[in-house]
Amino acid sequence: MTISSSDAFVFFGATGDLAHKKIFPALQAMIRRGELDMPVIGMARAGWTVDKLRERARDSLEQNGGVDADAFVRLSAQLKYVDGDYRDPATYESLKQALGGAARPLNYLAISPSMFGTVVQGLANAGCAKEGRVIVEKPFGRDLASAQALNRTLHEVFQESEVFRIDHYLGKEAVQNLLYFRFANTFLDPIWNRHYVDNVQITMAESFGVQGRGAFYDEVGTIRDVVQNHLLQVIALLAMDAPAGRDPESMRAEKLRLFRAMRPLDPAQVVRGQFRGYRDEAGVAADSRVETFAALCLHIDTWRWAGVPFYIRAGKCLPITATEVVVDLKCPPLAIFDEISPATSNYFRFRLSPEVVISAGARVKQPGEEMRGEPVELIARHEPRSKKLPYERLLRDAIRGDPSLFTRDDSVEAAWRVIDPVLGDAEPVSEYEPGSWGPATAARIVSGDEGWHDPKPEETAPC
Ligand code: BG6
Repeated sequence: MTISSSDAFVFFGATGDLAHKKIFPALQAMIRRGELDMPVIGMARAGWTVDKLRERARDSLEQNGGVDADAFVRLSAQLKYVDGDYRDPATYESLKQALGGAARPLNYLAISPSMFGTVVQGLANAGCAKEGRVIVEKPFGRDLASAQALNRTLHEVFQESEVFRIDHYLGKEAVQNLLYFRFANTFLDPIWNRHYVDNVQITMAESFGVQGRGAFYDEVGTIRDVVQNHLLQVIALLAMDAPAGRDPESMRAEKLRLFRAMRPLDPAQVVRGQFRGYRDEAGVAADSRVETFAALCLHIDTWRWAGVPFYIRAGKCLPITATEVVVDLKCPPLAIFDEISPATSNYFRFRLSPEVVISAGARVKQPGEEMRGEPVELIARHEPRSKKLPYERLLRDAIRGDPSLFTRDDSVEAAWRVIDPVLGDAEPVSEYEPGSWGPATAARIVSGDEGWHDPKPEETAPC
């Protein structure tokens, strides 16, 4: 079966925050690469004109990476704007006119999930959905039940192969490289299991707060915002078995198996924190118990991973902005050189953001007569920052109809099944100081192991 490319890009919520921060920069980059030769139609109910949307696009680019004069001229020429109420059939008639001869639009729903049903039915009634595709943002639902309901809503109009659930982490160069590094190297597989891996830690630290998104954040919290999606996806890529084929569905099938093998989280193995001052943020309830920090331990019940703890820690207002995975290997079976015990120096480190780093920790002997060593890090890849925007890559794939980097309905539901037991007030929330590593109680999550590995500022890349 040949998969046809979309022939128009329609984005609902064109005047909103997501369009400003992510969509316009990605569109400009795609135009620069010659990957977006089609009408680009912004939809909103704001009483704007296309000129106002162009101004907004320019402002977005100025603030997010810069305006490329040539590409911007082309983007402006391709840009159209349809203003209207999403509940009004006339809005979709105007969209139809704006589409002209285009018959296979890619519809990006950068809007509240409560409007998904209205918009997809509006598209269908106007005949704009027949060969169309739809992109939806994370978090996909608030829990398992609402994710199932959203899937039903989308499937009333679109087939699963036409639904693209975006998780921008999957479009990051470093996350792609994680998958590549695992399955392109034979030396990893023999040790990538419970016999050699002691524990796995993932830290997603952000040194900033909620950045004006208080109202959104207070509805969501850290576990829904980044754990259910970005961080469980990273674990899936770290822990899944090799796909049985090279097609996107083989990859998605292996990921699904892994999600299904994750044990639902135990509230006793979760610590939730809230930074001091969060309740003073605009849009945040004065008595909010929503977490801005979470630390937890996850188990994967497979032959490969039984008994290996996967520790996750994520939070706002922490000491640094960095996302890092450390796969700690077990100690050598006997301490032949007294100085090593008890800590191991063998690990793999994957820095996912802002830099891209893949490295392995080892010990080597110091020069001299004594059998005394030191830890070193062997660096396989070190780039200051990846050049391609995740959204650029993902939007291009969705236009081409390639689902490899998008989350399937069954996987998203399986991920919620893991998270559901710890949502809401399952555990109390403890206050922490901005600039600290969260509540001191987070240490108990890793007790028995070496403690949390705090990501450090990355040294500059070696020449
Ligand atoms: C988003 C979250 O999905 O990811 C934000 O909603 C978070 O709260 C962001 O800051 C982090 O993404 P990145 O690419 O900047 O690491």
